[in-house]
Amino acid sequence: MDNNGVLAELKNEMRNSNTITIIVPDRFSFMEHGTYDFESFIRFFDWSYSDKKVKIDLTKCYNANYQALSLLVLYAWKLKSQRCTVSFIESESSTGASEMYRRLGARGTFTVLMHATSNFRGDQFKPLFALRNTDDFKKVIETAQSYTNDFNVEFTKTLRYVLSELLYNTLEHGQSHYEYGDRYHRIPSLCQFSWFKNKNEVSFIIADSGIGIKKHLEQAYPGQSSHEEAIIQAMRPQVSGTFGKNDPYKEKNNAGIGLFLSTNIVRRLNAEMHIVSGNGLVHISPRDITNRRLDSYWPGTFVLVTIKVDGGPSSETLDEMLRGFREEALAEQKNADGFEAEESFYIHIANFFGFFAEDKESAIKFRNERIFPALEQGKKLRIDFSGVESSPHSFLSALLASPIKSLGMKSYKVIKIINATPDIRETVDFIMDENTE
Ligand SMILES: Nc1ncnc2c1ncn2[C@@H]1O[C@H](COP(=O)(O)OP(=O)(O)OP(=O)(O)O)[C@@H](O)[C@H]1O
Ligand SMILES: [Mg+2]
Repeated sequence: MDNNGVLAELKNEMRNSNTITIIVPDRFSFMEHGTYDFESFIRFFDWSYSDKKVKIDLTKCYNANYQALSLLVLYAWKLKSQRCTVSFIESESSTGASEMYRRLGARGTFTVLMHATSNFRGDQFKPLFALRNTDDFKKVIETAQSYTNDFNVEFTKTLRYVLSELLYNTLEHGQSHYEYGDRYHRIPSLCQFSWFKNKNEVSFIIADSGIGIKKHLEQAYPGQSSHEEAIIQAMRPQVSGTFGKNDPYKEKNNAGIGLFLSTNIVRRLNAEMHIVSGNGLVHISPRDITNRRLDSYWPGTFVLVTIKVDGGPSSETLDEMLRGFREEALAEQKNADGFEAEESFYIHIANFFGFFAEDKESAIKFRNERIFPALEQGKKLRIDFSGVESSPHSFLSALLASPIKSLGMKSYKVIKIINATPDIRETVDFIMDENTE
């Protein structure tokens, strides 16, 4: 080979190594055998590419879900913001991810990114939206409304309420910008929803590539210990990243209560919510609240909500629910305020563990990571059981037995239980007696 030949080959190699093909696997969804599996789903996304030619190959994927697929759009935008050129490889097939991608209108991915007034033009039953401003916000709400005309009025109102809290959050806290040329560009947030008629279920996802809940919250509450803790903290009332002195939203008066209300509504309905932010995952369901750390991450936040259309055990109207939760929020805030002043650790059990506090694993984790350190710092514990309907001995014992043992008789002074049902009260008293002899 002459010099030119070598050079040409080298160039070719360079070009090739600069091209990356990402194959979307046959199964591309949050569900694995009927249970949620975010761990392997999030692992799919490699955020490290910059200045590469990236091809996302959809042709091998036949078992996708619309919410999961829509996150590929955000992925493509994010890589583009890292100076990659991104393209999708589609098959002609009328089933599988390629067809679903077309139905979402996702062929418009880059047009929508570059033009702030354009949006996806997909199938009316698989709506996908870019969210950048109040116009986009209104479009989502209107579409959701037209979509749920057949549902009962209270359900429609409730759905709309939760949807709008989450849309506000992504617009207010989940913004994302990148520099290209001499200008700043915006990466929109996304919203996609589907109505699974056969399952009688509505599902929607709201996703962004912003700074994430932890970093956002740290503007007002520095030193969050992990992403999942930050998410849980954000679900408490009056916790607002924009609540501090430099509140750019003062006019709007963020009360820091949106997530508290919407997660509580979800828990009252036959519904589930997953919040992923950074490498934190929190799952909210009527039975419990669980959290975990993922081994990979999402650069920003997404929230997946799934609601059964036939409603839940609750017969309350939205207004009644909201009134109740607001009162709870006020009471919780008062408790927390009064007590933090005394150098105490305030634990709202329902907020961490749900109305049926029974997940022993998370009790142990919480005890080790939060209760013991607080006791070591000489803090008192104020444990608020309001809203908790039941909690088995095994849970309470996992949470409290060894702290009580280590405190001895001091437990009676240091640990204060409030708003517990007689059952729970009795169990805690029993554990106290048992461990202070
Ligand atoms: N998409 C998001 N990206 C980053 N941070 C978020 C996001 N959503 C919520 N947060 C964080 O969680 C906090 C709590 O959210 P929440 O909706 O409860 O209150 P708020 O939006 O501040 O006030 P309100 O909803 O009452 O107007 C926010 O202040 C913000 O710090
Ligand atoms: Mg909010």
